[in-house]
Amino acid sequence: SKITEEQDVVIIGGGPGGYVAAIKAAQLGLKVTCVDKRGSFGGTCLNVGCIPSKALLHTTHMYHTAMHEFPKYGIESPKSPPNLKKIMAHKRSAVTSLTKGIEYLFKKNKVSYIKGTATINSANEIDVVPLKKSEDGGGTIKTKNIVIATGSDYITFPWLPVDEEVIVSSTGALSLSQVPKKMIVIGGGVIGLELGTVWKRLGAEVTVVELLNNIGGTLDLEVARELKKQLSRQKMKFLMPAKVTNVTVENKIASVEVQTCCKNPKKMKLEADCVLVSVGRKPYYEGLGLEKIGVQINNDRRINVNDHLQTNIPNIYAIGDVIHGPMLAHKAEEEGVAVVERIADPNKSIILNHKLIPGVVYTDPEVASVGCSEEQLKGAGVEYKVGKFPYMANSRAKAVGDFKGFVKIISHRKTGELLGAHIIGPNASEAIHELALGMNLNCTDRDIGEMCHAHPTLSEAIKEAAMDGYFKAIHL
Ligand code: FAD
Ligand code: NAI
Repeated sequence: SKITEEQDVVIIGGGPGGYVAAIKAAQLGLKVTCVDKRGSFGGTCLNVGCIPSKALLHTTHMYHTAMHEFPKYGIESPKSPPNLKKIMAHKRSAVTSLTKGIEYLFKKNKVSYIKGTATINSANEIDVVPLKKSEDGGGTIKTKNIVIATGSDYITFPWLPVDEEVIVSSTGALSLSQVPKKMIVIGGGVIGLELGTVWKRLGAEVTVVELLNNIGGTLDLEVARELKKQLSRQKMKFLMPAKVTNVTVENKIASVEVQTCCKNPKKMKLEADCVLVSVGRKPYYEGLGLEKIGVQINNDRRINVNDHLQTNIPNIYAIGDVIHGPMLAHKAEEEGVAVVERIADPNKSIILNHKLIPGVVYTDPEVASVGCSEEQLKGAGVEYKVGKFPYMANSRAKAVGDFKGFVKIISHRKTGELLGAHIIGPNASEAIHELALGMNLNCTDRDIGEMCHAHPTLSEAIKEAAMDGYFKAIHL
């Protein structure tokens, strides 16, 4: 029914930032409404981001392993081609069960929610147009506080409109109806590498065109180089540093002009039946009415907030991809919790350590990192030391036959305090949290190295890398 009662907080956007904030607000006893215009909750992450991409990465990893790795273990490999329809059906069912799960959690926690578009009318009023006329909840909602959690959208070039068929954003690349013969990926960042991997494993010839000299954006350089080496072994091709200068499409075939970025630039023309544009994402707040009420935007187009996640209008807050920091689901979630704790208790100060947000690339091998890269520390003039251990020398990795990559732990040269940790290798996404916890608790490399780790586990590589930092590893 129509929301007539004044709310303590209205949250605009039901992504990982918004839906988590809504549940936490209700748990803290606030009257809360969450509005999302997508038609299902969970935002980019659950609908067209983290979850569908990880579903496809997992399925295609199994397929690739069955086709190419099983024989090495003495298991005959199945030879049937992948059934893309079933692969997509699995992806959809993972997404649907999770998005429905959020509605269940909303009901359980007594969050009122509306599937509709919100506009900020004034600092205390939100106008909502429901997605379907038949749906409840439209009209103006009065509220004490507003949280903007409207997320982000893909970036493309003005001359390269996305049609989600031949020229695709990540959303199109998560739902292709057939495996492309040739795919060109513009941008060797997280999306390009993950979704490039998916289609490469299913049989596409994938070429990544990256502007910089390294892939993976802000990854530690040594790790980025190892990742490129491993992906190249999987026959992913890289053109870098290079840029795409023009694309034309005829009869569903894209003709892609590429120019290398060096002293004597070379031009080339490539053909592809699919071009993935993955050159970054931009904050999204179209039609929200921010100009009208005067919410300040930074030069990088993110919404300006202070340490309390407050915009320049004190009862309007913003979290997640629309504000500064890495565009990651778990970062948005932490901010979602912090912001409503602050709204519930204005004396509570927000404790968010942006330096300790782990980042993961779900390729094979996986890459996970937390804290500083070597390059960042060099730039800041911090004295550091590095402890390293390769999975090649880890007994569990050898036993399971997956021993690509290494653990790299960077700590302060004098005190041993952990400053950064980078894992490229099996299960890196899960393993990183031991080191993230260590950093949160101000541990030293010795604290990690002297802790008993179960044998045989991949985690022993972390212990040994730590030992290498302050003395010597045993198994190297
Ligand atoms: P969003 O999830 O973008 O949610 C914002 C919501 O607000 C949307 O549903 C939108 O419909 C709604 N909205 C916008 N305007 C209005 C309005 N006016 N009225 C009502 N509703 C509105 N991050 C990770 O941490 N791990 C990953 O593995 C990962 N994989 C990704 C893979 C892909 C392909 C992509 C694209 C992203 C991935 N991300 C990943 C990033 C992650 O999805 C985002 O960081 C995260 O979703 C941001 O959360 P958010 O709540 O800020 O915004
Ligand atoms: P990104 O910022 O990670 O990478 C973009 C890449 O494109 C960079 O390497 C950049 O140098 C390159 N680039 C920029 N302009 C270019 C040009 N003209 N030609 C060629 N290359 C160019 O952005 P991406 O991959 O689009 O992802 C967006 C965001 O989504 C990420 O920042 C990340 O926060 C989030 N994400 C996170 C994932 C995860 O956590 N596993 C997975 C997917 C997305």
